[in-house]
Amino acid sequence: MKQKVTVVGAGNVGATAAQRLAEKELADVVLVDIIEGVPQGKSLDLAEAAPIEKHDAHLAGANRYEASAGSDLVIITAGIPRKPGMSRDDLLAINRGIMKNVVSEVVRYSPDAILIIVSNPLDAMCHVALEESGFPKNRVIGMAGVLDSARFRAFIAAELNVSVENVQALVLGGHGDTMVPLPRFSTVAGVPITELMAPERIEALAARTRNGGAEIVGLLKTGSAYYAPASAAVEMAESILKDKKKILPCAAYLEGEYGLTGLFVGVPVKLGKNGIEQIISLSLAPDEQKALEKSAAAVRELVEAMKKMK
Ligand code: APR
Repeated sequence: MKQKVTVVGAGNVGATAAQRLAEKELADVVLVDIIEGVPQGKSLDLAEAAPIEKHDAHLAGANRYEASAGSDLVIITAGIPRKPGMSRDDLLAINRGIMKNVVSEVVRYSPDAILIIVSNPLDAMCHVALEESGFPKNRVIGMAGVLDSARFRAFIAAELNVSVENVQALVLGGHGDTMVPLPRFSTVAGVPITELMAPERIEALAARTRNGGAEIVGLLKTGSAYYAPASAAVEMAESILKDKKKILPCAAYLEGEYGLTGLFVGVPVKLGKNGIEQIISLSLAPDEQKALEKSAAAVRELVEAMKKMK
């Protein structure tokens, strides 16, 4: 039997994720958005491409959540981008309100779903989703590390002129400028990049990775990245829907792992049919651990700012 995935937010990331889910025939897809006609129009357009793309995934769009009932997985991309004159806290407050509303509706109709959170600020939105859903921590997962690692992999492959398929990379921490690319755990055909590149080049690629989201915003001017974010969310969804048990860097709620407690931070996890089935603990070098703690502190600051909003 085909599984069912709801994608909330039929904007750039949500619609692209819906397209990839359908074209990979991973599930039937319901797109939900507050804008009347948009989820319906985009899902119809995608359904009309199905005969050419050769898939039988069913696509539907809605403004209400009844259509999402019984979803196995829900990808949440709803939110608004930061606009001129808006402070970080203004944006945090608005997106927190949106996330609370979306999650309460999602949970009402799909009490057993696994949630993949994509909306920014990512780590803070994961906290809202965990709290509002009341779900166990294995069923609330943030998409950040897969995207950040994919960017690092793409830059490494281009630098060394090798296939992206040969490149693995690990980026931990929060989804912001304090994220922690780990060269020691980033490899080309199994060889750590620390053996293949000068330290200055590695640092340059790591810096470009940390700035990856801003680089795209700078080019697009009117929006943020969506192809790679959608691919990343769908890779996570595929591992869960097919119970593949891939090890992927994701934002997970930590309770003591890596010396961090009560916080969503990007770490390697095993994704299977139960969501996060294991948090993989790596033994980090002191400088790596310090960078992770700095990144976690930035996440904690946002979480504290949200607590004051109550
Ligand atoms: N319920 C449902 N959908 C909503 C709600 C809500 N309460 N509020 C906003 N939306 C919808 C918007 O109508 C819009 O269609 O969320 C969609 C967001 O789409 P875009 O503005 O195109 O943004 P996108 O580029 O897709 O990014 C979405 O993912 O990567 C992150 O930072 C990004 O937080 C942002 C999110």
